Amino acid sequence: MFKLFINPKNKKGHINPELQGHFSEHLGRCIYEGIYVGEKSDIPNVNGMRKDVVDALKEMKIPVLRWPGGCFADEYHWKDGIGPKKGRKKMINTHWGGVLEDNSFGTDEFMELISQLGCKSYINGNVGSGTVQEMSEWVEYMTFEGVSPMADMRKKNGHADAYKVDYFGVGNENWGCGGNMNPDYYGNLYRRYQTYIRNYNPEHRINKICCGANAGDYEWTDVVMKTCFKNAEHFHGFMEGLSLHYYTVPNDWIHKGSATKFNEDDWYNTLKKTIFMKELIERHTAIMDKYDKDHKVGLMVDEWGTWYDVEPGTNPGFLYQQNTMRDALVAGINLNIFNKHCDRVKMANIAQLVNVLQSVLLTEGPKMVKTPTYYVFKMYNVHQDAELLDSYVETEEIGSEKDKVPNLSESVSVDKNGTIHVTLCNLSCKDAYDVKVLVADKKVKSVSGEILTNKMDAYNTFDAPEKVKTKRFKANVVEDGVELNIPACSVIQLSIK
Ligand code: AHR
Repeated sequence: MFKLFINPKNKKGHINPELQGHFSEHLGRCIYEGIYVGEKSDIPNVNGMRKDVVDALKEMKIPVLRWPGGCFADEYHWKDGIGPKKGRKKMINTHWGGVLEDNSFGTDEFMELISQLGCKSYINGNVGSGTVQEMSEWVEYMTFEGVSPMADMRKKNGHADAYKVDYFGVGNENWGCGGNMNPDYYGNLYRRYQTYIRNYNPEHRINKICCGANAGDYEWTDVVMKTCFKNAEHFHGFMEGLSLHYYTVPNDWIHKGSATKFNEDDWYNTLKKTIFMKELIERHTAIMDKYDKDHKVGLMVDEWGTWYDVEPGTNPGFLYQQNTMRDALVAGINLNIFNKHCDRVKMANIAQLVNVLQSVLLTEGPKMVKTPTYYVFKMYNVHQDAELLDSYVETEEIGSEKDKVPNLSESVSVDKNGTIHVTLCNLSCKDAYDVKVLVADKKVKSVSGEILTNKMDAYNTFDAPEKVKTKRFKANVVEDGVELNIPACSVIQLSIK
């Protein structure tokens, strides 16, 4: 029996709903086909946005969406994507398959999507190939209420009211696809570009995000923070967030491994690489603490998830992959890690929303399937806006000869009504465990739960879309808490009153 201890008296921080954020990029079939099909499509849509996709995302409670990239962001010129569609300039999407981008989905379409989803907006600006003026005018186009050249252009395009931009990223991966810069050079550019991201509406302030490190590049974090904070401690380095990108790649970047065909060794290797997220967050946090000890700047893990070889027969530049129970565990473990570090992690965005990398939804023509990852996000949404509770679970080491992991991962929160929510993952692909949940100083009255479980390589297809989905889970109230048996390869959510 493994004990899970919860201390409801020790609240450890607020869990921003944005920890369960998403990312949409002009990449493969994410935007076109996956989200936007156009008003004239036979696929049911509202103003061009797929109705099935929007409905599923609302049901999942999507809190924030990042757009337009990724690497695409640093070659995107926003003025090409506004105004009458016929006149929009076309471009080659050089990063992703060299396909023609017709710019029919631009700023106004993204804001329409945000309004249909009812979530926050995260726009990523272009530093790599864009000018300060271009970035500044984009912000003016989106957020200026009064009379101005850009606001007038927006009105002429049929959008009288200014939009709300919640987050604005000043470049993406500027250490790589966003310009191959050195950290001190980017840090200085950040200071300059962000100056012209004006807050036209004091009630709707824009949270500015500085480009952070690639995985374990701690030097980038140190130099960028130092450069931005120099003589600017009072302004918190002019930023509300610093990003971090880390993908779970099973083998290496050349032979990443199949999304669906893997063995037990691959399973534990993937989960071990996922758990590395904890070390990354803690080490980047320690560096950020040198400059920002009060944690005014959030660590925004705005790209994470599994990255496998593309599905056989699909365009290698489109990054289309299937999604199994292994991805469900990757999602559950990462979301638990983000919760546990919510004093520093203020947003995280899985890559990517539909049809690319670790997607929550896959589409094929008019068909749509919810992936195992979708169900994990839906179960975890109980943590949104809740308070993290002090918790600890006893574990044992399991795994392959090469890769060892703890058998269980958990996080616990309490919501505004006093209900305690536990999310618990069983990392073993073959063993079930008895678990006792002990809540200090509380007599448990009731418990309800949900579970996602199946064989480790099970996944949903367009012909069998409901093979993997959540079911009710039975846990028992006992004298001193709750008892349960967690099956192998599963993610559960418990609500305790
Ligand atoms: O998500 C795919 C790509 O991965 C993004 O465009 C880029 O930011 C990262 O390298």
